Amino acid sequence: MAIERILNTQSIEEESNEELLEISLRPKTFNDYIGQERIKTNLKLSIDAAKGRGEPMDHVLLFGPPGLGKTTLASVIANEMGAQIRVTSGPAIDRAADLASLLTNLQDGDILFIDEIHRLNRSVEEVLYSAMEDYAIDIMLGKGPTAKSLRLDLPKFTLIGATTRTGALAAPLRDRFGHIHRLEFYDPSEIAQVVERSAGILGTKIHKDAAAKLSTRSRLTPRIANRLLKRVRDYADVNGDGIIDAVTADLALQLLEIDAIGLDTADRMLLNTIIDNHQGGPVGLNTLAAIIGDEATTIEDYYEPYLMQVGMLERTPRGRKVTHKAYKHLGKQIDQQTPQQKLV
Ligand code: ADE
Repeated sequence: MAIERILNTQSIEEESNEELLEISLRPKTFNDYIGQERIKTNLKLSIDAAKGRGEPMDHVLLFGPPGLGKTTLASVIANEMGAQIRVTSGPAIDRAADLASLLTNLQDGDILFIDEIHRLNRSVEEVLYSAMEDYAIDIMLGKGPTAKSLRLDLPKFTLIGATTRTGALAAPLRDRFGHIHRLEFYDPSEIAQVVERSAGILGTKIHKDAAAKLSTRSRLTPRIANRLLKRVRDYADVNGDGIIDAVTADLALQLLEIDAIGLDTADRMLLNTIIDNHQGGPVGLNTLAAIIGDEATTIEDYYEPYLMQVGMLERTPRGRKVTHKAYKHLGKQIDQQTPQQKLV
């Protein structure tokens, strides 16, 4: 069974209160949106140009690790365009007819946001090609030799697609986006600003050094920073006076077993498994997935980007390897001998 992770970047579906709170913390304008400066500059320019011409914006593809604000950015774009946004996801659109119905119900200028767009199935994806390019779709009426194709015009909409992996996107789909932006991990100073902003919205007092501490433990990811802030706030409310200072933050993070660089028990288990059972690697992704009981895609999307960002893990053609830095971080001795040498 997969480990329930406080650092999980997936939205928690069962906890609707948490979700609502998360939505309330989301910035609505570029001014409120901290970080991703280069992307914001580019998008602002395109929005101004599109608004000036009275046209919808070109289609936008946002990619990068989960939790960095792709959905938030899509809603900021809609807000700044003064447009309505319809939100769906790749796996939610089963059949071409579902997409056709979504598209025909849009209005001129609307934004259609498709999260996890790499998970659209082929037949649905093909409908999207003409929709994106010509604002039209071809519908087949009937079956067999008497079947007829009917062309339906669509409103002029903007598609915003989000994906954790552009590699998984078919080239014809990728090529139809006018803007392709990769969201990067945030700087700790930006995460500290996110924490302070969110604490303000939640009405919680937080000391600067406590926000700084959270910023180094949040995997450089705003969604995680907000989640940790809420857990630390719980701790401060129950065990203190509700004010988050550095000591309270430290104690709460210790309780959550999040270490100095933001790794949780699941990350450490992954690294320890490679060291203890595979001499530090390389070990194949599927083997790793089987050992730690998570999906290969979860390891690729959720664990690895940050572990690689902080230099704990390497992807090689032969599999995953931990780095010397990881041994040091986990307090393990690097065994220079290969298993073969040990036998001699
Ligand atoms: N909350 C989540 N992401 C954010 C961001 N980039 N800026 C401000 N608040 C956020």
